[in-house]
Amino acid sequence: MYTDFERLKSDCIRCRNCPLCEKRTNVVFGVGNTNADIMFIGEGPGEQEDLTGEPFVGRGGKLLDKYLEAVDLSRKKNIYIANIVKCRPDNNRDPLPQEQEECIKWLREQVRLIRPKIIVCLGRISAQRLISPDFKVTQSHGEFIEKGGVLMMGTFHPAALLRNPNNKPAALEDFFALREKLASYK
Ligand code: URA
Repeated sequence: MYTDFERLKSDCIRCRNCPLCEKRTNVVFGVGNTNADIMFIGEGPGEQEDLTGEPFVGRGGKLLDKYLEAVDLSRKKNIYIANIVKCRPDNNRDPLPQEQEECIKWLREQVRLIRPKIIVCLGRISAQRLISPDFKVTQSHGEFIEKGGVLMMGTFHPAALLRNPNNKPAALEDFFALREKLASYK
């Protein structure tokens, strides 16, 4: 158990606990405000994220930033963004259950130190891992459920929205619902 976020980060970026470490350029630990009320959690780094060391910086990330901006959220100001796995799975495949199991220890420590009020899962892998193994994004996106004192919500993965823009209005509604939920805490 860590008490210091920088210590957690410096150990994480040296992690060699699973084979994903072999091919990585950078560990994508996470970015944002470590005092944030909201954490966004994706699945794992893609190519651009591996190259830069920052989550959600590709086309999907740009789209995510637009949704965030629409509800006065920003990774530079008031949220924290991380992933289930911190190293890129090759060819952007889904991270294997063993890889998730190993890496989620870092995420648990991040959540424990940040103590968010709300966690938003971006996409199926994150929502199935953190909310419920049978979570279906198209069915249950935008619904808040409480788990261990934290409100959890799943929404569409930005890359899925790029592939299927028909879901963009529904995703925006989820962000509006998030803004309302956050306002009810203040
Ligand atoms: N997809 C994710 O789930 N996370 C990232 O950081 C980038 C793409």
